[in-house]
Amino acid sequence: MRNTSEILNKASWIKSDDICPYVYVRTENHIIHPGSRHSQLDWFKDYPILYKNPLELKELEFAEQIYHIEHRAFGPSNMAMPRWVFYDCAVMPGFVAGFAMRSSVLPESLKKNLRWSKDSEWTPLSLFIIIPTMAKGEWVAHNLCSVNSFLEKEEQLYALGFLSKAFGLWYANVETCIGMTQWLSPARKLHSHYGPMEVLSSYSPVHSHAKTLTYRLKVNTNCWLQFFTKEPDLEFLELYRPSGLMVEPKNESNLISIHHNIEKGTGPYFLSATEIAQKNLDESLTLYVPKT
Ligand SMILES: CC(C)(COP(=O)(O)OP(=O)(O)OC[C@H]1O[C@@H](n2cnc3c(N)ncnc32)[C@H](O)[C@@H]1OP(=O)(O)O)[C@@H](O)C(=O)NCCC(=O)NCCS
Repeated sequence: MRNTSEILNKASWIKSDDICPYVYVRTENHIIHPGSRHSQLDWFKDYPILYKNPLELKELEFAEQIYHIEHRAFGPSNMAMPRWVFYDCAVMPGFVAGFAMRSSVLPESLKKNLRWSKDSEWTPLSLFIIIPTMAKGEWVAHNLCSVNSFLEKEEQLYALGFLSKAFGLWYANVETCIGMTQWLSPARKLHSHYGPMEVLSSYSPVHSHAKTLTYRLKVNTNCWLQFFTKEPDLEFLELYRPSGLMVEPKNESNLISIHHNIEKGTGPYFLSATEIAQKNLDESLTLYVPKT
């Protein structure tokens, strides 16, 4: 199968029996038919899923390990998540997904960087938090991080962050995904690859970082493979055309001006994943509008 083999070439770690996707979820929030909405995607369907229940005291260590990754990844930007936010706002309404590695085979580079114990069979390597909203089929992607953010390049597991979010979206049959990311964050390169990315807010002063992009996308697994192949997204170019406006990620007055356009209803405006992948994070980006 082309899909699977393309991934295996670039992210060979995924075929290891010592790595598996996990879902940290209370029993009532289990998804009844994981993956049924995106059944044409064969990436995750054969993997056994490791389930962890946040309400079981014996699983506390797994939570501490998740916190450890999150604090290391977000500590430098002063956005580490308070424990009550994780519990009240993430784990109670939604769930956490990611990949875990069998603790007995953790390489030294990971042992040095992670909270781990040989008494825990599995050690988490990434986390993606997703929360359902009141709108039907719509979820909020609340947090994404992976150990890659604090490993040397040669020690990283390529696409760990990308595949963690892909797994969560696939698992929960997510139709529409909202998310928030800082304009200059490398995460923008990942988030734009799950479907055409509509800009809901280009300037978000209600957030602690005003230069935050709020986006919404209809999950479209047809374009996920392009994260690996770097092929242009032809489906996007068929449906959207340049609007004539450019967004300048470092320029606050430009972000505010674009936001006024959004409020006036001259959009909706979309970003191209192909263009985001090709450009540096501080370069201007074309805003696209639907052709019809
Ligand atoms: C952002 C994050 C989740 C990405 O996960 P990851 O496992 O590092 O990234 P992946 O291996 O899945 O993807 C690699 C791609 O991401 C992009 N990327 C990752 N780090 C990057 C960086 N420092 N600069 C530019 N692009 C980067 C690139 O496009 C890269 O692909 P390419 O090399 O083929 O171009 C991870 O780095 C992280 O935890 N960062 C800290 C927390 C954070 O900022 N989270 C996002 C909040 S919205």
